[in-house]
Amino acid sequence: MTAAQSPAPQARGPQQGRETWTSNRGFILAAIGSAVGLGNIWRFPGVAYEGGGGAFLIPYLIALVTAGIPILFLDYAVGHRFRAAAPLAFRRMWRRAEALGWFQTAILFVISTYYAVIIAWSLSYFYYSFGTKWGERPDEFFTGDYLRVGEAGVSGELVGTVAWPLIGVWALIIVILALGVAKGVEKLNVIGLPLLVLGFAALVIKAVTLPGASDGLNALFTPQWDKLSDLNVWIAAYSQIFFSMSIAFGIMISYASFQKRKSNMTSSGLVVGFANSSFELLAGIGVFSALGFLAHEQGKTYEQLDGLTGPILSFVTFPRVISEMPGSAFFGALFFGSLAIAGFTSLISLMLGVSVAFQEKFGLSRTSASVTVGVVAAIVSFGLFATTTGLLALDTVDQFANNIGIVVSAIAMCVIAVWVARTIETLRAHLNAVSTFKLGWWWVPVIGVYAPLFLTVMLVQKIYDLIVDGYEDLPTWYVGVFGWGTVGFLFVFAAVLTAVGWKGRDDPSFTPWPIVGSGPSSAESKESVR
Ligand code: ALA
Repeated sequence: MTAAQSPAPQARGPQQGRETWTSNRGFILAAIGSAVGLGNIWRFPGVAYEGGGGAFLIPYLIALVTAGIPILFLDYAVGHRFRAAAPLAFRRMWRRAEALGWFQTAILFVISTYYAVIIAWSLSYFYYSFGTKWGERPDEFFTGDYLRVGEAGVSGELVGTVAWPLIGVWALIIVILALGVAKGVEKLNVIGLPLLVLGFAALVIKAVTLPGASDGLNALFTPQWDKLSDLNVWIAAYSQIFFSMSIAFGIMISYASFQKRKSNMTSSGLVVGFANSSFELLAGIGVFSALGFLAHEQGKTYEQLDGLTGPILSFVTFPRVISEMPGSAFFGALFFGSLAIAGFTSLISLMLGVSVAFQEKFGLSRTSASVTVGVVAAIVSFGLFATTTGLLALDTVDQFANNIGIVVSAIAMCVIAVWVARTIETLRAHLNAVSTFKLGWWWVPVIGVYAPLFLTVMLVQKIYDLIVDGYEDLPTWYVGVFGWGTVGFLFVFAAVLTAVGWKGRDDPSFTPWPIVGSGPSSAESKESVR
């Protein structure tokens, strides 16, 4: 019998010595800070445009309702009930599921290493905004003067202009991790989130009042219905939802594990989901209005603009917009400052998941885990992504980690919770016992049937496309090393870390909190004996 099944007469201590958020408000702010990140500002507008503009909102909303919110609740339930980062939380749910926890931790680690680099670019560009240093040719400046992009290769020369701000990013992340959940992570969000909302709102208000803004908005919201029959658009919508809501890769499990026992989990989840999608929409409106303005200034139609996706949108096309704007230094600083703050409050959540996982497995103190994982991640970050080949590597790793890694993780999580560990009813009862928004029966088939089936179809299609078509005309060996190599790394990391023995808190006497209000663990007694 595992801890998930034990009747749990009395949990030890309020949090068994575990840190907590200072309040539910602190948790919600941190969870919104995690969700609202580069994915909202740097990724969503381009993905939405490529996915059919207004028509993309349909798969996006369907993905939000059928996978985003239900899997967010699953993350919350696992984290809050088993009170640990992903590896230990899954292990407490079903011993063999520890590997899934390490798979998720590997995703967090990989994403952190390139995410930090984009924040470093944003900091540089924040500084360059005062004086529009990118000059007349932001494209040449970004890939030439700034990144000194070379040919696709396995390693490149370190680029000083990226390395310096990157040192600052990692130093700050390590210090905040070492300060802990309440004094570090929560404080960063309490300060950062209002700044982000004010700064970005000012930017959007300015953008929508620029000449030509309505053309940009038309481009974003005019539906291209034919795109809805393209499975890749659906894949992009689901991947965007996972990345953007920070779900299915361990972040929300560790965040929920620091919640106090009596915490309104599902209602908080609805607030977080709503806030994240609202911000995403706001970012889309702001960015597309600004692009409409750019087209207007250059005497083009929106469709004639190029560089509308990926890093180029933020670091080439947006500087162009800023250069054309009256008061450009101020608006440049607002845009890149917002990007950096949104990035920081998300990166901290990625790295917290990694740090806590290592603390728990190896019995490390918070400070030594923060420094160790922070320094290792920083070294990888410098070695792979702060080099002359970093831009290509980043784009390739991002594609594979998100469209394959996170989707595999989401499928595995749903299948294990519902069909293997059979804890889903306990998790539902757990959430309902502490929350005001009660999860109905519908949650179980969504998690157990719809989500894994649909995600599997998408995954198979994605893998097929990547094998047959390759990725972005890159050489096959390159996609093999950085793309499939990333996927391979996730599995190897999970296998190795699972095989290593526990030196930390695999406390056999751990008992989940009793499910107060639903009888003495009535749902728990229904769990299968594994
Ligand atoms: N949720 C974070 C983002 O959107 C990771 O960037």
